[in-house]
Amino acid sequence: MDTLISKEAKTEATLIHAIKDRWSPRAFAAKPIGDEELQNMLEAARWAPSSMNEQPWRFIYAHKGEPAHQQIVDTLMSGNQTWAQHAPLLIVTIIKTTFDRNGAPNRSAQHDLGLAIGNLTIQGTADGLSFHHMGGVHFDQLAEAFAITDGYEPVTVIAAGYQGDPDTLTDELKSRELAPRKRLTVDEFAGHGKFIR
Ligand SMILES: Cc1cc2nc3c(=O)[nH]c(=O)nc-3n(C[C@H](O)[C@H](O)[C@H](O)COP(=O)(O)O)c2cc1C
Repeated sequence: MDTLISKEAKTEATLIHAIKDRWSPRAFAAKPIGDEELQNMLEAARWAPSSMNEQPWRFIYAHKGEPAHQQIVDTLMSGNQTWAQHAPLLIVTIIKTTFDRNGAPNRSAQHDLGLAIGNLTIQGTADGLSFHHMGGVHFDQLAEAFAITDGYEPVTVIAAGYQGDPDTLTDELKSRELAPRKRLTVDEFAGHGKFIR
């Protein structure tokens, strides 16, 4: 594909490009993700903050063509399977649900995984990659396929790769691919001294 689709955030704020430019495509090019880009994104996740520095995130990653990639695809809901099967890299994101130090439940685990995924996504975007996070997953099947048990839980699957040609998608997915990105305004979610419902 010659031209990348730009869905740059419409904002007057001086945001860094990786935040402005990031969006979630469903069409991925066949180009594999290089080792350097992969290591960069995992390293970015590594340096996220976490409650008690517990670092409760775990990842399973697999490149297209590897058996684990197909195993992950098999656990996606059908609406995600159709496009995510073509992603060059799939990442299962997992939390460790209790603290190492005392075995108590870690109520920040999902939060901290999200911070790590945020780092991973923004670093990867800066390196030219695109990501599509998915909650549409049969999590029991996924946990069973990779023996994610005893204090660990899968949370999402991420499709990663380089932007592909929207013409490879069904008409419905293509129109979603080209639709503008929508957001609440800042005033709709951030209250100065008051709670905005
Ligand atoms: C936790 C999470 C779960 C998501 N699950 C799905 C999913 O199962 N299928 C899908 O197509 N998109 C999924 N998305 C993508 C969102 O729909 C998308 O991020 C949102 O519409 C904003 O669009 P943008 O990322 O292009 O700005 C998910 C995103 C997140 C963060």
